[in-house]
Amino acid sequence: MWLETPINPFGTHFDIQKLSSQAHSQGAIVAVDATFAPPPLMDPFKWGTDYIMHSATKYLGGHSDLLAGCIVTKSKQARDQVHYFVLLPLFWGG
Ligand SMILES: Cc1ncc(COP(=O)(O)O)c(C=O)c1O
Repeated sequence: MWLETPINPFGTHFDIQKLSSQAHSQGAIVAVDATFAPPPLMDPFKWGTDYIMHSATKYLGGHSDLLAGCIVTKSKQARDQVHYFVLLPLFWGG
């Protein structure tokens, strides 16, 4: 399940813990785009998400002079899954 919270541009936010719990009960993994509440404002891992994504172009970069993004994982196994299922297909064109 992909969840953006808070949402750009209005800052609407969702209950990460509740939605993560529901998603996990169905066997889904949960990723949160936390671009609009970067650390230390919000840590979605506290509420059960499996992955966190940030557009580093925004607050993390801070000066509109950086084009970057990051995916944060809790374990090496989760990192390897992202590498295998998300990043490699981008290079393969699949
Ligand atoms: C919440 C959120 N995530 C991701 C992006 C994409 O960011 P980028 O411009 O670095 O691709 C945006 C862009 O506005 C955003 O608002």
